[in-house]
Amino acid sequence: MKQLNRQNEKLVYVGMSADLVHPGHMNILKVAADYGDLVVGLLTDKAIASYKRLPYMAFEQRKEVIENIKGVTQVIAQDTLDYRPNLEAVKPDYVVHGDDWKTGVQAKTRQQVLDVLAQWGGELIEPSYTHGISSSALNQSLKEIGTTPDIRRGRLKRLIQAKPIVRIMESHNALSGLIVENVKADNGVEFDGMWSSSLTDSTSKGKPDIEAVDVSSRMTTVNEIFEVTTKPMIYDADTGGIPEHFAFTVRTLERTGISAVIIEDKTGLKKNSLFGNDVAQTQDTIEGFSLKIATGKKAQVTKDFMIIARIESLILDKGLDDAIARAFAYIKAGADGIMIHSRQSSPDEIIAFCEQIRAEHTDIPIIVVPTSFNQITAKELSEVGVNVVIYANHMLRAAYPGMMNVAQSILSHDRSFEAEHQLLSIKEILNLIPGTK
Ligand code: SPV
Ligand code: MG
Repeated sequence: MKQLNRQNEKLVYVGMSADLVHPGHMNILKVAADYGDLVVGLLTDKAIASYKRLPYMAFEQRKEVIENIKGVTQVIAQDTLDYRPNLEAVKPDYVVHGDDWKTGVQAKTRQQVLDVLAQWGGELIEPSYTHGISSSALNQSLKEIGTTPDIRRGRLKRLIQAKPIVRIMESHNALSGLIVENVKADNGVEFDGMWSSSLTDSTSKGKPDIEAVDVSSRMTTVNEIFEVTTKPMIYDADTGGIPEHFAFTVRTLERTGISAVIIEDKTGLKKNSLFGNDVAQTQDTIEGFSLKIATGKKAQVTKDFMIIARIESLILDKGLDDAIARAFAYIKAGADGIMIHSRQSSPDEIIAFCEQIRAEHTDIPIIVVPTSFNQITAKELSEVGVNVVIYANHMLRAAYPGMMNVAQSILSHDRSFEAEHQLLSIKEILNLIPGTK
């Protein structure tokens, strides 16, 4: 820690995220500053993302806010939820924290703080928690207000940097977008963003997945999703078209607030990859595809947008060596990430690919689509070096059987009574979207 400009004999430590700063934070800082020189351990994006959503403001922005609050002597980074590494470095006389952490998930962290402070006779001060205001409530209000293209666009890169694995779910209309926005597992895990799939967007429009739905039509879907959500989106641009056209697509996607585009190294009439060699598909040359990547990067205007190169060598049985050679070439051409696709039910070839890439490039984001190798978990994929996992078609595949069954049941029974138990009740559908009443 840099030498403090000491005013007092005593040193005080406060750990906080300080994303949506509210009067509760101010109270803690005010109390803390009364005890001595105040060091704020500001949680990094990584530390926060390890237990809840990514903060709205980046670390540097949050740091600037806290540094300028009266009574704060210095702001340092706290890289983990665990206070102990910073406390051992700072050796404060006091730690100040709201008393809300005495029970629940934070109780363990609190005990660790007490134990480490005891080593040098430090004291824990716990002002009463400010009720009636919380970051979670403010976060909900922010969701209701919405987001801007700039903020949404930048979130994917920050998520990749902050999280061991980024979970992306397919969304083909506003309603499926709302599910991705709001659904939460019991342990609090959420999807981090959405995938605009060429397969599911085309299928919902009753068209084949052969680049027949043009960019304007795809953007209508994206805009409808963006009207009701705040999470970032990765856009499936198929082959990206010819390089000159791809340059325009990049600008359209950036302007809308999409975070990343994935283009696949195929040419001619594109067919869905999961057909493999059952249909005629042509892979682009390394030179041709590298030129497309470079043309897209040149057209890009924002710094956050990502162009991800998708390698089809395993889909087309060209082998791992071909996939690796292409990955190195595409990274050299400027790709911001590599998506490796496979249609095997085992993840082995994906794992082998990741090992070889990671031996050369430790940081380049690797993206996978485990539709066929669906037994491996996101966590296991992260352990072999994958950064982003895309569930590419699951919302639409879930919806279609439900609709088919009900349509058939109504015809067979000549009434809807028998299908009723498969349906959302009228009350539920009326209350599903706020503002319907
Ligand atoms: C899509 O979702 O449209 C994709 C992924 O491109 S896949 O269908 O597996 O090719
Ligand atoms: Mg596709």
